[in-house]
Amino acid sequence: MTEVTLAVVGGGLRGLTYARRAHATGAGRVVAVAEPDLERRAAFAAEFGLEPGQAHADWTELVAAGRVADAAVVATQDQLHTGPAVALADLGYHILLEKPMATSEPEATEIAEAARRNGIMLAVCHVLRYTPYTRAVRKLLDEGRIGRLIGAQHLEPVGWWHQAHSFVRGHWRRQDTSAPMLLAKACHDVDWLVHLFGRPPARVSSFGSLSHFRPEERPEGAADRCLDCPLEPSCPYSAPRLYLGCLGDPDREFWPLSAVTPGRTEEAVREALRTGPYGRCVYACDNDVVDHQEVTMEFDDGATCSFTMSAFTPVEHRRTRLFGTHGYIEGDGRTLRVVDFRTGGEESVDTGGPAGSSAADGHGGGDEGLADAFLAAVAAGDPSLLSTDGAESLMTHRVVWAAERARRTGTVVTL
Ligand SMILES: NC(=O)c1ccc[n+]([C@@H]2O[C@H](COP(=O)([O-])OP(=O)(O)OC[C@H]3O[C@@H](n4cnc5c(N)ncnc54)[C@H](O)[C@@H]3O)[C@@H](O)[C@H]2O)c1
Repeated sequence: MTEVTLAVVGGGLRGLTYARRAHATGAGRVVAVAEPDLERRAAFAAEFGLEPGQAHADWTELVAAGRVADAAVVATQDQLHTGPAVALADLGYHILLEKPMATSEPEATEIAEAARRNGIMLAVCHVLRYTPYTRAVRKLLDEGRIGRLIGAQHLEPVGWWHQAHSFVRGHWRRQDTSAPMLLAKACHDVDWLVHLFGRPPARVSSFGSLSHFRPEERPEGAADRCLDCPLEPSCPYSAPRLYLGCLGDPDREFWPLSAVTPGRTEEAVREALRTGPYGRCVYACDNDVVDHQEVTMEFDDGATCSFTMSAFTPVEHRRTRLFGTHGYIEGDGRTLRVVDFRTGGEESVDTGGPAGSSAADGHGGGDEGLADAFLAAVAAGDPSLLSTDGAESLMTHRVVWAAERARRTGTVVTL
């Protein structure tokens, strides 16, 4: 197997996830990182055996060094994807780019155009496409097992504590510093549904709002921080319960805890909750992204799809029902119940993916599947090993922007 060399831009949680997978399988080797945070940069360099000259403080330094690897992983925060992605594409790197591609349509277009112009492979990290579960669903649809797909009902159960962690207290809480929820989180689902239907919808509508995590919902007597709050023990969104509960579990120490603190002691967690953003009362944050949203899509042949994103669920796999002319599929992220209208018979398909759905569990095998497919595609010079290219990812992002426009303006948007 050819070993692909990798430069990683952003040595945070996602950058580490892909780098670790590349090293674990031997399909890739990290030869450079760009990461401004000193502690993170040093830890990353130590883990992957990088020399000081291979560890840069900023993506521009990496770019200034010219092309030092076959491929690059761009895993900076949402608003810092375009600069590095375009510059690295212009240097000829193949690129694994975290979703969302960018936070605006012109920037995402610029990235897709840079990939096309330079003839590089651009894989956007829509990890759901690469799970064993998705491959199984697609196979059933492609085999015509349920006839023509006439409708779908899809739920993304974000989960109450995940919403509080990422979208109320964390990085993705505000549209101006990150992106609307539909782009930051549910671009995965819109991409996945478009992938199942095999084409973009013709029309979209959407409703949703920030209903609960707002000052008006704050219970009387609640303090600004959980550590000072008399109501903390009975609050579902208690930060001490969530984060102290991660200690001792390596998966949960990686996610969600490492976003909160690099420390792994009770003292370090309490200090972070006393002073940092993750200790704030969920009703006293500066968040504005929605906590529930519906998107309805209609396709050119009249097929329809309804999608629900909600914070008010357990953290678990997505659930989907697919309505075909000749059959029905109901999936819970691992197992598929397939009903055949021709025979009335039922089949249960265990797709064999990992039990967990979250980032701590590698998104149901999607993180690993994507990293492996990308490295294999680069090694073989074969883009067909990827499920998408830049143009298709741009198209599914455009559906997200159209749906968000529909929600904001209260209209049905025609694509
Ligand atoms: N595919 C998925 O399922 C999935 C899941 C979570 C997050 N994400 C996306 O991945 C991206 C990264 O998320 P994360 O959780 O790893 O965030 P993170 O904050 O842990 O990592 C981002 C890193 O980029 C670094 N950085 C900042 N400025 C930089 C610069 N100028 N040059 C180089 N590096 C710089 C930061 O210091 C940080 O370490 C985001 O766009 C996020 O939306 C995708």
